[in-house]
This record gives sequence, structure tokens and C-alpha cells, in this order.
Amino acid sequence: MLSYQHAYHAGNFADIHKHWLLVLLIEALSRKDKPWCYLDTHSGRGKYPLDSDIANKTAEWREGVGQIWKHAGKAPESLQSFIQLLGVSDGIGGQEYPGSPEVVKKLMRPNDRAVLCELHPQEFEWLKKHYRHCSNIHLHFRDGFEGVLGMVPPPEKRGLVLIDPSYELKQDYQRIPAYLEKLRKRWAGACVAIWYPVLAEARHNVLLEGVRKSSVHNVLRSEIRKKNVAKGMVGSGMLIMNPPWKVDQTIEAGWSFLVESLQLDDRLSVAVDWLKPEQNA
Ligand SMILES: C[S@@+](CC[C@H](N)C(=O)[O-])C[C@H]1O[C@@H](n2cnc3c(N)ncnc32)[C@H](O)[C@@H]1O
Repeated sequence: MLSYQHAYHAGNFADIHKHWLLVLLIEALSRKDKPWCYLDTHSGRGKYPLDSDIANKTAEWREGVGQIWKHAGKAPESLQSFIQLLGVSDGIGGQEYPGSPEVVKKLMRPNDRAVLCELHPQEFEWLKKHYRHCSNIHLHFRDGFEGVLGMVPPPEKRGLVLIDPSYELKQDYQRIPAYLEKLRKRWAGACVAIWYPVLAEARHNVLLEGVRKSSVHNVLRSEIRKKNVAKGMVGSGMLIMNPPWKVDQTIEAGWSFLVESLQLDDRLSVAVDWLKPEQNA
């Protein structure tokens, strides 16, 4: 039984980290004329109104997108398209925060495609409401790990897989390294982004160690940690297998803005480093 609902957390500091990197990865794919395919293993509902009761129960968005809106005037080039995609705020959050499906929808060109998997019946109903009329967005009410593996490589041969589980099941940390190996076997050129929570109890280390010991290579890591948070989820991490050329430099270029506006612990945050370098590097 799934109980996690992303609506409580949408637009928080971790979403900002994840969705900014998602924008950079999609933009890199769009630099060539050829179409791409985006596959989301855990898509959530797609859009989140920030004036809803559920969003304001935690009000996590105030520490995330709320801060980005506040500091937007000082943002460097590498964050400009992300900020544009977030739209301008009136400062009280009378606006929708875009989840990963919506971020991608806003960046799709006519021949690009998106495949969204979601297993929660209520979240899937929202997805249908938001995207069933979009001919280039395909919705699947099924387990995203299994679903995406069965759909790769896509005919486009170029694209991105986002793996963004809720980690309600502790096995998710353990299963992802072997899952990456399987994905790479079927679709060697895929760019794959894996989001994970950075936890005070360091449970996410199982995932990082697993990837280090696995047969996959060419994996970048970006990790942020909040200042003065010592319990539970203290930060947000993203691994990127087969990252686009020079994306590490683009991340570095936006880093100090992120550190300042989201109040990150710059001693513990890692803008970007190689968890596993290229095989012959
Ligand atoms: C962290 S949220 C996704 C957020 C979304 N990717 C975004 O960035 O806006 C995780 C989602 O995965 C769904 N979920 C959990 N287990 C799943 C599974 N095995 N397959 C597909 N979806 C699943 C949950 O219902 C939840 O909506």
C-alpha cells in the first residue's frame, strides 16, 4: 500500500535541486534536432497548486521555490531557463509548482515523447486529468521500474530516464544499482538520473556504495545539504549516469546561487563530482 504523496513536499529545496538538474539534462538533449524520449519511473501527479491545504500543511515550498522566487533577480545564466519555467510569483504562492512531468512537458518539442509511470491510483487519476489529451505523453498505471525496463530502448534511441522513488520501501536503495546495470545493458547510451534523499542516518549510502561496486561507469553525483538540519532528510542527491558533455561545468556555474538562496551547508554540499568516472578515464 502506497501512502507517500508528493503534494506535501512539492517545491521544497530537494525538488528545486532535482528539477533544476532535470532542466539542464533535457536542454542538453534538445541541443540536437533529433527527437528524444523521456521516461519517468515514478512520475507523481505532475502539477501541484501551492495554495492548497495539503501544500500549506508542511509549507516546505517556502524554503524551496519560495526562496528561488525571492532571489530570482540575482540568478546566473545556468538557472535562467529553470526560473522562467517556474514563472513569476506574487510572493504568496498563488501558483502551481511543476513536478517532473510538467517540467518536461514545458521543454518538449513537437517530435519528442514522454512516458510516465505511476502506481498510486489517486496520483494516476491526476496524471490522466492533466495529460490524457497530450498525444506525445504516454501514461502507464504500473510499477515504473518494471515498466520502463520493458520499454527501452525507445525508437528515438536518445533520451533520459528519471528514477525518483519515494523510498517508502527500504529495498529501493538496494535495488537501484542492479537496476542501472540492467538499463545500461538494454540501452547503453541512455542518460539516467536517480534522485535520492540524503538522510541523517545515512541509509542512502547503501545506494551510493552499490553504484560504486556495480559494473556501471560514468556516473556524476550532485548533493546538497541544508544548514542547521540534523534529523531525517538533511539533503538531496542526484546521480547522473552518462551525463551530457560539460553539464558539470553548468552545475558549478549555478552553485553559489543555490547555496545562498536555499541556505545550504557549503562545507557538506557537493556541487558535482564523479561517483564513478568513465571506464578509461
Ligand atoms: C517522489 S514522488 C515522484 C515525484 C516526481 N518525480 C516529481 O519530480 O515531480 C514518487 C511517486 O512514485 C509513486 N510510486 C511509488 N512506487 C511506485 C512504483 N513502484 N512505480 C511507479 N510509481 C510509484 C508514488 O505514488 C509517488 O507519486
